[in-house]
Amino acid sequence: MKDLKIAVIGYGYWGPNLVRNFTNLENSTVSHVVDESPDRLEKVKKLYPDIDITCSLNQILENTDIDCIAIATPISTHYDIAKKALEHNKHVLVEKPMTNSVKHAKELIELSKKVNKVLMVDHTYLYTGAIQKIKELIDNDSLGEIQYIDSTRINLGLFQSDVNVLWDLAAHDISICTFLLKEDPISVQAIGSSHTESNFEDIAYLTLHYNSNKIVHVNCSWISPVKIRHMLIGGEKKMILFNDLETTEKVKIYDTQYQATKSSNEKKILADYRIGDIHTPKISMREGLSWLAEDFVNSILNNSTPISNYKIGLQVVKILEASQQSIKNNGVEIFLENN
Ligand SMILES: NC(=O)c1ccc[n+]([C@@H]2O[C@H](COP(=O)([O-])OP(=O)(O)OC[C@H]3O[C@@H](n4cnc5c(N)ncnc54)[C@H](O)[C@@H]3O)[C@@H](O)[C@H]2O)c1
Repeated sequence: MKDLKIAVIGYGYWGPNLVRNFTNLENSTVSHVVDESPDRLEKVKKLYPDIDITCSLNQILENTDIDCIAIATPISTHYDIAKKALEHNKHVLVEKPMTNSVKHAKELIELSKKVNKVLMVDHTYLYTGAIQKIKELIDNDSLGEIQYIDSTRINLGLFQSDVNVLWDLAAHDISICTFLLKEDPISVQAIGSSHTESNFEDIAYLTLHYNSNKIVHVNCSWISPVKIRHMLIGGEKKMILFNDLETTEKVKIYDTQYQATKSSNEKKILADYRIGDIHTPKISMREGLSWLAEDFVNSILNNSTPISNYKIGLQVVKILEASQQSIKNNGVEIFLENN
């Protein structure tokens, strides 16, 4: 079978990971890398002498030998590049989040349907051994009904020049919650503040409300002295701590439950706790991006729907856009339209 030819656009922090993973994959070849910075292109040439480099996106779009475009440029550029790529009949893998507005995300989806090309978003976490294991535990009801997800994603992070910290970091948590939970949130609240002239919030807190009694809370910061990547998932039967900074024991399952009953005079809540074993399941250590790259290629070759499909991509953008509206209105609750 002929290899799919992929051009990677953007070779900054994340682009090199796309180039490495697609290069290592069967059935795909990275034929070109595009970056507007000649310095970045020099780095490609040193590592991969066989890959063609160029500053010109148009040259890539006009090249009919290229089947796919993988976009790893800043978020504000995603829509424009993805639109041009689809219009030139290329399959598209775009970095998270898909676009910086719901309107643009919907436009890209419609265009991909019209030209019958794959449009996929790189929500890498969905392909990690940890999230796959947690999904399995939720789906086979090992945890019971999920009551909350509480995520902390903070560090001294790279300030993005075109979006706030939620668009950068909470995009991961929202994609994970969309993937794990069988229900979409009905409303969104967020607060945050900026400490730079850019006015993009560098610290922010996001809450998602659901029709059932679930609640999701995400704490994101680029200005924390310590790096924390903790996600607590509370089920009626068991609870999980996913610590992404652990090398091997990333997922710990706590056999912990509580029963809360009202006392006979109905004034006090009596809580009965059961603290059981802590179990660490074996999880796949395969790099998530490697499996994501394979899913992208397979979805093109087999005409299948990838795990990180455009519906998840759109849901992430919807929640981020609502969070931005909420922040601008001092944390007011924003209701989501469910279509
Ligand atoms: N999936 C993940 O886990 C993950 C992790 C980090 C970043 N990302 C995403 O990757 C994207 C890029 O982030 P980054 O941190 O690598 O950014 P970056 O600023 O480090 O790199 C962007 C690169 O794109 C180039 N560029 C900018 N505009 C361009 C254009 N119009 N045409 C060609 N080249 C252009 C820049 O010169 C730069 O080399 C963002 O969408 C970000 O959210 C995803």
